[in-house]
Amino acid sequence: MTLTGDNLSLRTGAPTGPAATVWPVSELGLRNDVYRRPLATALERLGLGEGWRCVDVGAGAGDVSVALAELVGRSGRVYAVDSDPLARDETARAAAAAGEGQVVSLTQAAEDLVLPERVQLAYCRFLLMHVRDPAAVLRRMAGAVVGGGYVVAQEPVTSAGRIGGLPLSMPDALRPDVGAWLPALVREAGMELVDAWAEAPAGAGPGPVADYLHSLTEVDPGDEPIVLPPLVTVIGRVAEAERRPLLPRR
Ligand SMILES: C[S@@+](CC[C@H](N)C(=O)[O-])C[C@H]1O[C@@H](n2cnc3c(N)ncnc32)[C@H](O)[C@@H]1O
Repeated sequence: MTLTGDNLSLRTGAPTGPAATVWPVSELGLRNDVYRRPLATALERLGLGEGWRCVDVGAGAGDVSVALAELVGRSGRVYAVDSDPLARDETARAAAAAGEGQVVSLTQAAEDLVLPERVQLAYCRFLLMHVRDPAAVLRRMAGAVVGGGYVVAQEPVTSAGRIGGLPLSMPDALRPDVGAWLPALVREAGMELVDAWAEAPAGAGPGPVADYLHSLTEVDPGDEPIVLPPLVTVIGRVAEAERRPLLPRR
C-alpha cells in the first residue's frame, strides 16, 4: 500500500528506526532517533554539561534521559518522570545498561510534577501533544527549575508534515499541532522566550525517515517524498527570584 496524507494516521510513540550514517550532528547516544538533531542543537545552545540537574518529563523509555545523564556525568542527575509505571521500568533498564550518569525514575503525572530538589533544566519532547492543558504543564515544569534555569520543550506540528505532498494527521493525540503554540505558551507560563525554531527530518525512498514513518504507521511509504512533522523547540528561561515558594502539591 502506498501512503498518502489521506490514509496516513501516525501512531504516537518514541522515535525508532535504523541508524542514520551520514548526519554530521552529535549522536547523543541516540543514533536511532531521527529527531535527535533538534535536541543536540538545544543542548549546545544551553551549554548543558557536567553537574547539571535535569528532569525529562514524559520520558517514555528513557532514551533521552540516559543521553542527558551521560552529558551531565556523575556529579549531575536526571529525573525521568512519566505517568506510565511501565516507562519507569524501561528507563531503569536503559539507565542500568548505560552505566554512567545518575537517572532517577519517577512515576508521576506532569500536571503534578514535584521533585526532591530544583533542577537547572526541565525538558519534554512529544509530551504536551498528549496532555489536556499544555500551559499548565509548562508552568509546572518552570516551577521545578531554579531561578535563571531553563525549560526546553520540543513538540510537533503534525499537520505540517507531508507524505507525497499531502498533510499528515495524528487523530489519537489530544493536541497534534501543539508545536505551533509553544512560543506563546512559554510566555504565558511567565518565562522569557530565549529561542524558538522548527526542524523536520525529510527524505524519499529507503532510509531512516521512511523507516521511522513505517514504524509509526506500519505502512511502507515506498518512494513517496516525506517531511516528518516539524518539531518546534522552545527555550524558556525562568526568572531569577530571591525566594520562590516550593511547588504546592495539587
Ligand atoms: C510519545 S512518548 C515520548 C517519549 C519521549 N519523551 C521521547 O521523546 O522519546 C510520550 C510519553 O509521555 C507520557 N505521558 C503522557 N501523558 C503524560 C502526563 N500527563 N504526565 C506524564 N507523562 C505523560 C507517556 O506515558 C509516554 O511515555
